[in-house]
Amino acid sequence: MSNKKKLYIETYGCQMNFSDTQIVGSIMADHDFETTENIAEADLIFVNTCSIRDNAEKRIRARLREFNRYKKQKPGLIIGVLGCMAERLKEQLIEEEKMVDVIVGPDAYRDLPRLLNIAESGQKAINVILSADETYAEIEPVRLESNGVSAFISIMRGCENFCSYCVVPYTRGKERSRDPETIVNEAIGLFDKGYREVTLLGQNVNSYHSESGLDFPGLMEKVASISPLLRVRFATSHPKDLSDELLKVMAAYPNICRAIHLPVQSGSDAMLKRMNRKYTREWYLGRIGAIKHYLPDCGLSTDIITGFSNETEEDHKDTLQLMEQVGYDYAFMFKYSERPNTLAARKYEDNVPEETKGSRLQEIIRLQQKLSLASNKKDIGKTFEVLVESTSRKSVEELAGRNSQNKVVVFAKGNFKPGDYVKVKVTSCTTATLKGVVADEIEN
Ligand code: 5AD
Ligand code: SF4
Repeated sequence: MSNKKKLYIETYGCQMNFSDTQIVGSIMADHDFETTENIAEADLIFVNTCSIRDNAEKRIRARLREFNRYKKQKPGLIIGVLGCMAERLKEQLIEEEKMVDVIVGPDAYRDLPRLLNIAESGQKAINVILSADETYAEIEPVRLESNGVSAFISIMRGCENFCSYCVVPYTRGKERSRDPETIVNEAIGLFDKGYREVTLLGQNVNSYHSESGLDFPGLMEKVASISPLLRVRFATSHPKDLSDELLKVMAAYPNICRAIHLPVQSGSDAMLKRMNRKYTREWYLGRIGAIKHYLPDCGLSTDIITGFSNETEEDHKDTLQLMEQVGYDYAFMFKYSERPNTLAARKYEDNVPEETKGSRLQEIIRLQQKLSLASNKKDIGKTFEVLVESTSRKSVEELAGRNSQNKVVVFAKGNFKPGDYVKVKVTSCTTATLKGVVADEIEN
């Protein structure tokens, strides 16, 4: 048994938050904490939080209240709130949720050891200062809950697009890019440890720009050149910044995955304008056309918000029609949730009734299920190179991995293991998964 103090971290929200949690894990490990998965033995509980929609915040607050139980059992227990809710609510969160001892915004994690000292002396501690240059560039994340095959690498932080509905520019601050050398070194380190896939992460990766003048296509080339056996993915792209140059780089490197997540948010020009997305439907469809031109076999996914201010039945139909036209493989779909102090909250009334939001969302989800199934059915008979990630959730006799298009592929295990590349011929599918058999020729 070690005498180190024990940290339990729970993470909510986007991949960027999961990536930040690994940075926090690393900072805490340097200050004699080890992470535990058993909350009952924790000396310190961190919750890395999300503010993107009201229901995310509500769920987290309910969870915080559950922690009171552990505080009663262990009076010295410290509870810290990290991430976007910490940044958005600041002191207010300590006033409203009395069990919280420490509040730390996304750019203040280096200050955690000092804040914990304050908390250990019985005072509340808070740091929500946003930074113009913090990227945690040289901190090596501890790969918590990793499958040992795929990892995220954060390449930039913040967002300055100010989409009118979005809280992120307020909670994560100004856009800044991480030094490319540290990114490439992190990817090499992962590859040497046996990882076979990295996903370069940022709120808007296409506007990556290093001080030395390297842009996102240039960075992708550097990472993709590490080894043909290292797959490279990226998320998320803003349509306005998705360049042909990037598509050309993708086409030139088979190990850059054929999958693009391109959030459209709405298919209606009136909504796009109100959302301050800075593109039209036609322009977005032009980008999809370019993707299909350079990467004919590219997987496409998106984010959609339904029931934004003033959305009419006509606007909603435009979204459904765009979804059909693009034929997305996958979509994340949300009801609009007004966030305090955003441009939309200040300027536009949240005037679509809750039931209408709900019924429109259902319609969108139903259509997407149909599109996902149609897309999967088209893959029956095709052979894909699958990177194995784990045993399948349904059977220990099966392995699960992904093809380049980011679809989950399940097949009988044989002698394969996570980290292997396997050629799999698709024989059947559901809405969510491709099923197949190992194809004859195998290169490993
Ligand atoms: N309400 C609903 N969905 C939102 N998103 C961002 N802000 C909101 C909001 N206020 C969605 C967008 C974004 C995804 C990460 O979350 O679709 O792309
Ligand atoms: Fe929010 Fe728009 Fe920035 Fe995405 S690009 S984080 S939706 S403001």
